[in-house]
Amino acid sequence: MQKIHITVLISWLLLLLMILFSSFIAPPSPKAPAFGTPPANIAPDLKAEVFQLLDTKCNVCHRKKNPFRVFSLKNMERNAKRIHQQVFVYKRMPKGDAIKLTDREYQLLKQWLKTQNLPSS
Ligand code: HEC
Repeated sequence: MQKIHITVLISWLLLLLMILFSSFIAPPSPKAPAFGTPPANIAPDLKAEVFQLLDTKCNVCHRKKNPFRVFSLKNMERNAKRIHQQVFVYKRMPKGDAIKLTDREYQLLKQWLKTQNLPSS
């Protein structure tokens, strides 16, 4: 009598444990999107290349002659309109004869400016 009682009790306990544990096992989740993959419509490489250009062909001079407009990865978007005006509309920059942009650099700059939604480009 006593023996049967214990086995029944243990069976119930085991069943209870199984139910408890099964609630911890999450149902298979849908595949999460991979992190760190940038959306296809932005090109971080283009921005980096253009910044490189601004740094080597513009900042070299601005640091000394126009220190309030030294371009950075943070302010280049904010300056896009002025850069477009100075380089492509008024053709004042790069100032002087010592520093010239190559065809490829003009192309890069133009390509990037197109991503900046400027009204006139
Ligand atoms: C050899 C020196 C020199 C170089 C190189 C140069 N700049 Fe300048 N830039 C200046 C000076 C000086 C000023 C301020 C006086 C002026 O506007 O002429 C200026 C002003 C500017 C301004 C502000 C003009 C305005 O009033 O809105 C912009 C924008 C600019 N430069 C963009 C560029 C870009 C882009 C490049 C590179 C492709 C560049 N500059 C290369 C000397 C230079």
